[in-house]
Amino acid sequence: MLVGMRVEILALPGCCNAEGAVKLLRRVLDEVGLPDTAITTRVIADQAAAELAGFTGSPTFLINGADPFTEPGAAPALACRLYPTALGALARLPDHDQLRQAVLSARGYEPAAVESPRQLRGSARRVLADAQRQHWQETYRAHPQMYGEQPSAPAIHAAGVFHRASARDILELGAGHGRDAVYLAGEGFIVQATDVSAAGLEQLHAATHQRGVTHRVRTIIHDIRNPLPLPDASVDAVYAHMLLCMALSSTEIRAAVGEIGRVLRPGGVLIYTVRHTGDAHYCTGIAHGDDIFEHGGFAVHFFTRQLVDDLATGWTLNDVHPFEEGELPRRLWRITQTLPRQRLGT
Ligand SMILES: C[S@@+](CC[C@H](N)C(=O)[O-])C[C@H]1O[C@@H](n2cnc3c(N)ncnc32)[C@H](O)[C@@H]1O
Repeated sequence: MLVGMRVEILALPGCCNAEGAVKLLRRVLDEVGLPDTAITTRVIADQAAAELAGFTGSPTFLINGADPFTEPGAAPALACRLYPTALGALARLPDHDQLRQAVLSARGYEPAAVESPRQLRGSARRVLADAQRQHWQETYRAHPQMYGEQPSAPAIHAAGVFHRASARDILELGAGHGRDAVYLAGEGFIVQATDVSAAGLEQLHAATHQRGVTHRVRTIIHDIRNPLPLPDASVDAVYAHMLLCMALSSTEIRAAVGEIGRVLRPGGVLIYTVRHTGDAHYCTGIAHGDDIFEHGGFAVHFFTRQLVDDLATGWTLNDVHPFEEGELPRRLWRITQTLPRQRLGT
């Protein structure tokens, strides 16, 4: 029986990452089957307390009295702590997978005997992605039409680009409750709108009725982590506002853009928007690794410019336009990229 694990968070008074540390640890304990293990928090108020506890920065995790992330030679200090992530960046909290591995080790498991680090990352991501799907579903149910009825600024811009490209068949990914899909249909396009949330798409469908554009919109429940349910070269343009920056790994994002390239006709255009590393929420909240951070239950993959450039490999990158949306404000990029007119190798 796996009992008796002692877990503690040590933090400076008022540490703004202490709450995130507790949440992250709680989540990991629940995932590994320790939902009843209580988390104690201890305030380290002065240097003497830091030295006594071997505290090298706030927040610190102690599992059975030991700091699993201890850095050789680090001196006790009343300082903020930075954790190296799996991808080499520094974050204010350890990666979810690293903490999970530390907890599993403290339980007496050899992590490799349970799952390899790659499997561990994969299964943690699946848990996160499934939790996110549920979270969006509940959010749309609790807040119908949460983004309002007006189209977003990127949708208005996209309609202009799509008209100029003489596009007709549009695929919108992560369409949510449809503020943009309904607008694009009103602009005369034929829209296939996908989202992982059935609740969002039900609201989208209702909105198409109200606006008299039902005949121009088809909804498809689809998780972007899976191949697109459309034939090759079957749409003229793809639009995705704040979908690719959901809780997707870089590998899943690359696969999604590969799929978008497959279903687009030669010369087709992709316009997508993502929150980026200049956003106020980057490196704050619960760190899930791979530049994914969670705030208020919403996990976001903050894009680097390098990732944007990588995703345009084999495309023409036409535009990377910075803009802001909402109250935070969210800081985003609107990216436009087009496929070559002739497929490579044809
Ligand atoms: C930030 S909202 C944007 C919604 C819509 N584009 C808009 O701007 O009004 C992100 C959307 O992505 C959807 N989503 C999240 N993860 C997804 C996934 N793995 N596959 C497909 N859709 C997903 C959510 O349900 C949500 O509707």
